[in-house]
This record gives sequence, C-alpha cells and structure tokens, in this order.
Amino acid sequence: KPYIIIMAGGIGTRFWPHSRRKRPKQFLDILGTGRSLLQMTYDRFLEVADKDRFFVITYKKYVNLVKEQLPELEDHQILSEPNRKNTATCIAYACYKVNSIDPGASMIVTPADHLILQEGKFVKTIQKALKEATIEGRLITVGIKPNRPETGYGYIQYLESKNSEEALKVKTFTEKPNSKLAKTFIESGDFVWNSGIFVWKCSSLLSSFQKHMPDVAEIFDEGKEFFGKDAELDFVSKAYLQVKNISIDYGLMEKSSDVYVILGDFGWSDLGSWYSLHELREKDEHNNVVEANAMLYDTENSFIKVDSEKLVVVEGLKNYLINETENVLLICPLDGEKKFRDFVSNARKKG
Ligand code: GDD
Ligand code: MG
Repeated sequence: KPYIIIMAGGIGTRFWPHSRRKRPKQFLDILGTGRSLLQMTYDRFLEVADKDRFFVITYKKYVNLVKEQLPELEDHQILSEPNRKNTATCIAYACYKVNSIDPGASMIVTPADHLILQEGKFVKTIQKALKEATIEGRLITVGIKPNRPETGYGYIQYLESKNSEEALKVKTFTEKPNSKLAKTFIESGDFVWNSGIFVWKCSSLLSSFQKHMPDVAEIFDEGKEFFGKDAELDFVSKAYLQVKNISIDYGLMEKSSDVYVILGDFGWSDLGSWYSLHELREKDEHNNVVEANAMLYDTENSFIKVDSEKLVVVEGLKNYLINETENVLLICPLDGEKKFRDFVSNARKKG
C-alpha cells in the first residue's frame, strides 16, 4: 500500500486576489462544489489508499486550515514546514518521513490544487504507475497531452515504445520553458506536460536526492533518527534554514536519467490561473464566466467574479478579468498571469 503525500503549501499567486496568503487557493472551493481543492484531492486518493497512509505537507501557517478541512487526519499526518522552500524540500521532508516508517514503501506525491474530471480513469493510471514504480530507481511522473504552449508547466519528451501502456523512458524534461521553446515543443508533437503527480519508491527517491541534490540529502541524513520522534520539529526547523529554495522539477526531474512517464488522459487541469479556470467553467453564450450580480453588454470571453451583492454593469469588455474581494478590486487581461507576481508583491508593499 502506497503513501499519499499531498503538497499544500503553495501561495497560489496567479489567482490573486481571490487566493490570498492567508487562504491560498488549495483551501478554497474554487469550483463551487462545496469541497475545497485540498478536500477534493483527499477524496480522490481515498480510492488508492486508506486514510492512515496520507500525509499533508504544508507551511506552518496553514496547518490549522488543513486540520479544519480534513478532520479525518491525525495530527501527526500533517507535516508542518517552518519556511517556504518549494517542492524539492517539501518532497525531501516527506521522503525522509516515509523512510523512517517504511523505506521500501511506494509514495505518490501530488499537488493539492488540480482538477481531475474522470476519477475512475485517474485511479487506473495511478495504479499502473505504482506497478511500474516497483522497479528500483525509477522516478515516475504522469504525463498529459498538451493543448497550448503554456509556459507554466514542465515539458517531457519520451522514447516511443510499442507498448504505450508501459512507463515510457523520458529523454528530456524541461521545466517552464520560455514561450518560444514551448511553441517549438508543441509544434513538434513530441512532448507531454508534466502533471506534477509523481510516483516512486521511497528508496528510489532517496538515492536520487543523494545523487542529484547531495546537499539536501546530507542535511536530512543528519537528522534521520529524529523522524517520527519529538525531536523531528526541532531538526526540521534547522534543516529548513539550510536548504535552498528550489522545485523538484529543476532539482531532480531535469537532471535524473531514471525518469519515466505514464501517459494519462483523465480530464486534467492545473487550476493554476484565472485563464485555466475560465477554460473549465461553464460559460454564458458570449463565453463569459459570471459570478456576480451582473448586467453585461457587448462583453465576451471575460471572467467576472464579485464577492458582494453589488450590481455590476459592464459594457464593451473583451478578454478581461474583474475580481473584487473584500479589499481588492483587480481588473486586468484574463491571460495576464505574468504580471501577477508584481501585482502581489507591490500590493503587499502598499499594505
Ligand atoms: N508543502 C509545500 N511547500 N507545498 C508547496 C510548496 C512548498 O514550499 N511550494 C509549492 N507547493 C505545492 C503547491 O501548493 C502545489 O499544490 C504543488 O506544490 C505544486 O507547486 P506549484 O507552485 O503549483 O508548481 P507549478 O504549478 O508552478 O509547477 C509544477 O506543476 C506543474 C503542473 O501543474 C511543476 O511540477 C510543473 O512541471 C508541472 O507542469
Ligand atoms: Mg501549480
């Protein structure tokens, strides 16, 4: 039986201002289903493992949110990170944790903020990946057929095989290419997106850290005996001060020659941005997503979300986002996600 590691410590910048530091998008009911993205992720993986095999790893300030949203989990199943050091560190922590319980176990590492439409097909794909991951050393990722030159994803080129049911050996892994490169990748038809859902044996991942991120392995190795004990927290606080901030994609996946991909086709979306959410949501006859008490004229392909009862009147708007929350009103191009980091950091300075 595998361990399920849900990564739920990101900030969700590109969903600002709906997603805020205090309550990032994984804790929001973004789809209006009554369950947050984190809760939906948990529900989905209950088909794969029992609840005592779950760990949710998150930034310390969100631990209470996780407890509130997943009261089924015991406290020790929520791993608290003292700093934000990105996914390589987060996965290293989880790996050493599992290693202290059962080094031979398989792990599934998943983001907390994805949408998956066909859960049955998803579970089958994960089961296939688990089987393929039993071969020592393999790092398996689930690949998704791309449909646009998105620059926010990892791109995977693999060696063709007669049996596409098997894990395919990865030739190149390119995290977040620039748009020119992304276009070349898409035009070649040779690439799939990295879904960011990984499957591996704990021991395979550990060796990979030792090989490609020896500094991280060394830091965590030192505290090996503390995991699962009271001293864990203290050790982790110190370790987190030493490690650098880097994602698993840059840190391991781009470097390792033991990466394999399982192709998945289950209606996947990284609900990464307003643009991607707009693509998925139900739209009116002019391709607008409207969550507001609104009167629209000559408005198309826009996303209008206003969290109050206020009447919103719009004329002549195209390809725009309007999002009003309690204390922010944002109006910007719907695909303007490159600017979001600036918006957020400048808004913080303004207070
Ligand atoms: N616990 C914890 N700590 N979680 C984190 C941290 C951290 O420091 N940083 C990010 N996360 C969580 C996020 O909440 C999210 O659920 C997941 O880890 C992935 O992080 P993102 O920041 O959303 O990554 P990304 O979307 O830019 O890129 C990754 O996902 C893409 C697909 O969605 C990469 O793996 C890409 O290659 C991939 O295509
Ligand atoms: Mg993401």
